Amino acid sequence: MALFSKKKTEEEKPQFSVLPNHLGIIMDGNGRWAKKRGLPRTAGHKEGAETFRTISKECAELGIKYVTFYAFSTENWKRPKEEVDAIMRLFKEYLLEAKRDFVKAGNNKIVFIGERKGISDELNALMDEAEAETADHTGTTIYLAVNYGGRQEIVSAVNKLISEGKTEITEDDISSKLYTVPECDMIIRPSGEERLSNFLLWQAAYSEFWYSDVLWPDFGKEELYSALREFEKRNRRFGG
Ligand code: FPP
Repeated sequence: MALFSKKKTEEEKPQFSVLPNHLGIIMDGNGRWAKKRGLPRTAGHKEGAETFRTISKECAELGIKYVTFYAFSTENWKRPKEEVDAIMRLFKEYLLEAKRDFVKAGNNKIVFIGERKGISDELNALMDEAEAETADHTGTTIYLAVNYGGRQEIVSAVNKLISEGKTEITEDDISSKLYTVPECDMIIRPSGEERLSNFLLWQAAYSEFWYSDVLWPDFGKEELYSALREFEKRNRRFGG
C-alpha cells in the first residue's frame, strides 16, 4: 500500500487528444429535477447553479479555452415572476461570490453575452464589475448567456451594419458585429431535449452535438468526460 495517497485536488485529470476550443452548454432540466422530488422549480435552479460551478471549474481545469453556458434566454422572461426573480438572485449570488476574490476564483475571464436592457441596475453593475475585474485573466473564458437569443444577436448585428450605411453585407461583416464569441465546436444539451433553442445560432453552424438524458442538476464530471470522449471521435469535415 502506498504510504502517501494522492490528495483529491491532485487527482489526475483524464487526457484528451483534442478538446473543443469552444464548448457550449445548454443547462436544461432544472424544473423536472425539482418536480421529481416534489420541490419548487426554484430548488432545481439552485441545484443547477451548483452544477454550473462544478462544470465551469472542471472545463477550466481541463484547459478548454472558451465555454458558453446558456443561463437565461430572451424567452425565459415569460416564466412566472417568482421563478425569474429566483434565477436573477442566483446570478447575483454567483457574482458576489466571485467578487469576494476574483483571483481566487481562478484565472478565468467572465463575460456576459445577451441584451443588458431588462436586467436590474444592481445586477448590471455586478456583471460589469466581474467583466472588468477578470478582463486580463488568461485562463478559460466563461461566457454566460443571459437574456440571450441567437436571432436577436444576428438581428442586432445587421441593424448595426445598416446604421453604418452598409447596403450589402458579408458573413465577415455579420461576424464582426456579434458578441465576440468564437465559432462553437461542440454543444452539450442534457435532459433529453434535442434542440438548439435559439442558442449561438451563428456560431453553431459547424457544432458537434451531444445529448444526454441526465437532468442538469445531476450532470457531473463523468457526463462531461463522455461528451469530450465523443468529440475526440467525431470526424469534422466543415462541409468539405
Ligand atoms: C432550463 O431548465 C434552465 C433555465 C431556464 C435556467 C438556468 C439557470 C441556472 C442553471 C442557474 C444559473 C446560475 C448561475 C450562477 C449561472 P428548465 O427550468 O427549463 O427545466 P425544465 O425543462 O425541466 O422545466
